[in-house]
Amino acid sequence: METRVRQAEPGDYDQIIGVVDGWWGRPIASVLPRLFLDHFHRTSLVAEDAEGTAGFLVGFLSPSEPAHAYIHFVGVAPRARGRGLARDLYRRFFDLAASDGRTAVRAITSPQNEGSIAFHTAMGFTVTGPVAGYDGPGVDRMVFERAL
Ligand SMILES: CC(C)(COP(=O)(O)OP(=O)(O)OC[C@H]1O[C@@H](n2cnc3c(N)ncnc32)[C@H](O)[C@@H]1OP(=O)(O)O)[C@@H](O)C(=O)NCCC(=O)NCCS
Repeated sequence: METRVRQAEPGDYDQIIGVVDGWWGRPIASVLPRLFLDHFHRTSLVAEDAEGTAGFLVGFLSPSEPAHAYIHFVGVAPRARGRGLARDLYRRFFDLAASDGRTAVRAITSPQNEGSIAFHTAMGFTVTGPVAGYDGPGVDRMVFERAL
């Protein structure tokens, strides 16, 4: 099945938010408020195939840390996993960030998300954690960083 990757648009939010809980297998939609597509769509990506949205990456070039880019969210439809789509989305974001002069990409995940930890390790990120209280009391996170 052919998959096409394009820059995201604000209107992609409604489609994406409708699938994330199913793709993650747990309630996760609150982690992706509409502001991310409204304000970071130019640095975010959507993959589509004949069945619709096959994957997405929500990322941005840090407005405060000029050396850094940040990937907030990546998801691939269960039907499209294991074929390198998330790797392709990350590579495109790395290229976009490097062409803006960014030298490192960061991301985080929960310590329970073993698939995300394995994926980021495969993508060459260093893994630090669990970092206790990273997102507030009792909210531990794994911290990923990769040089560009
Ligand atoms: C994690 C996720 C994005 C991976 O998407 P994908 O398109 O299947 O990943 P790819 O096929 O591009 O895999 C790239 C590499 O990561 C590895 N990888 C991906 N998912 C993995 C998993 N669950 N366990 C172990 N390794 C994994 C692959 O083996 C591959 O490594 P290789 O190239 O060295 O063989 C997808 O499983 C997903 O959407 N999961 C639910 C949402 C989620 O947890 N998102 C991340 C946190 S924001």
